Amino acid sequence: MPKPRPLRIGMLGMGTVGTGVAVLLQNSAHILSHRAGRELQLVKVLVKNPSKTRDTPIHGFKLASSVEDITRDPDIDVVVEVVGGTGWAFDAMAQALANGKDVVTANKAVLATRGGELFDFARSHGRCVAFEASVGGGIPIIGAIQRGLSANRILGIQGILNGTCNYILTRMTDDHLDYPTALKGAQDLGFAEADPTLDVNGTDAAHKLAVLAHLAMDTTLGVDSISRRGIDELDPLDIRFAGELGYTIRLLAEIWCDPDGIISHVSPVLLRKTTPLAQVRGGFNAVRVIGDAVGETLFYGAGAGRMPTASAVVSDLVELASSRDGFMAATSRLWRDSPSPPLLPQDKLRSRYYLRLHVLDRPGVMAEVSGVLASHSISIASVIQHETIDQPNISQVQMVIMTHLAPAGKFLDAVRSLDSLGCVLAKAVHYPVGE
Ligand code: HSE
Repeated sequence: MPKPRPLRIGMLGMGTVGTGVAVLLQNSAHILSHRAGRELQLVKVLVKNPSKTRDTPIHGFKLASSVEDITRDPDIDVVVEVVGGTGWAFDAMAQALANGKDVVTANKAVLATRGGELFDFARSHGRCVAFEASVGGGIPIIGAIQRGLSANRILGIQGILNGTCNYILTRMTDDHLDYPTALKGAQDLGFAEADPTLDVNGTDAAHKLAVLAHLAMDTTLGVDSISRRGIDELDPLDIRFAGELGYTIRLLAEIWCDPDGIISHVSPVLLRKTTPLAQVRGGFNAVRVIGDAVGETLFYGAGAGRMPTASAVVSDLVELASSRDGFMAATSRLWRDSPSPPLLPQDKLRSRYYLRLHVLDRPGVMAEVSGVLASHSISIASVIQHETIDQPNISQVQMVIMTHLAPAGKFLDAVRSLDSLGCVLAKAVHYPVGE
């Protein structure tokens, strides 16, 4: 029998993930071709800086002179995009599709913001787009939702979807590092985006949540419609108080199906230290998916970094090489205009809350604060206020309150009233408490 034709790959980008893809294709060539039923050949790569010395010896491919040198090369079957960003990367993928190439991408920002355009483009050219690496790094969560859980109505997704934030939070909690030192550690480990602002302000997690929400709930959420808070304003004081109360702070991306619609947010959330998501540490990610038939599922693994993300990209290549049918079917179905369940406003969220108030330490303050909460029907579950006896000249104190379940709308009204009290010295700090 004649040897099957190799799958010829062109790659845009040779940064952290691109290097991992090249290494994996080189070092695991034998096993990959066995699984794919044909050879996976990296033939050409577009690098930003050809003279840069790389820490890993990789060879066997040509350097492209331009993006067109890859997207228009008739000898290339599939283009891997691992550059990131939404402008240049989108144009390059569209060009590849228009020239008859399939596309494998790790680009959650493009999917979340321009998924409709990209998939329309792929459909009109009869090509497909694979994107396992876009969410959860090495965790095969895209395939799990699209195939493994396709018998379910997905009721909720709760995820730690940003490795950089989880690494920072873990180091700040366990090793009492300050924020800049912990961020530098995450960057050194290759977790962070080129612009880490997108990681720490919750945008990267919101992009990933939008992708998962689309797959799981047939909803196309504009990223700006996902309420989001990052960890860039998190005060170490709140990590400490949360710990004292038996909680750990994690950046969660959540979406829940309600009978009236769906509700989603990205926010630092207090989780009981014993819950599985609270125990996800360092650059790891975890995604809890609740289906009506399967019940609870939990997916865990390295959410960022060179080889885990390369694992997802190369798995897509193996599947493309062996059978494109699944990807073609997904491409024909996804990011089409279809009726979506309505997105409910944030004030419909019901949660318990952590609330920290910097207040004057004088008679009647506790009564004033609890009076405001009572007038908004918010019930207090616990209070911490430490003596400042060792600082007799400071008549100010931190008051930390955990509430019972409350509607977000009422809670935020109460916070506005508290902020206007004379005894409250700084804007109240508050986070939801997770289930
Ligand atoms: N910057 C991302 C993270 C990795 O820290 O999780 C790529 O999605």
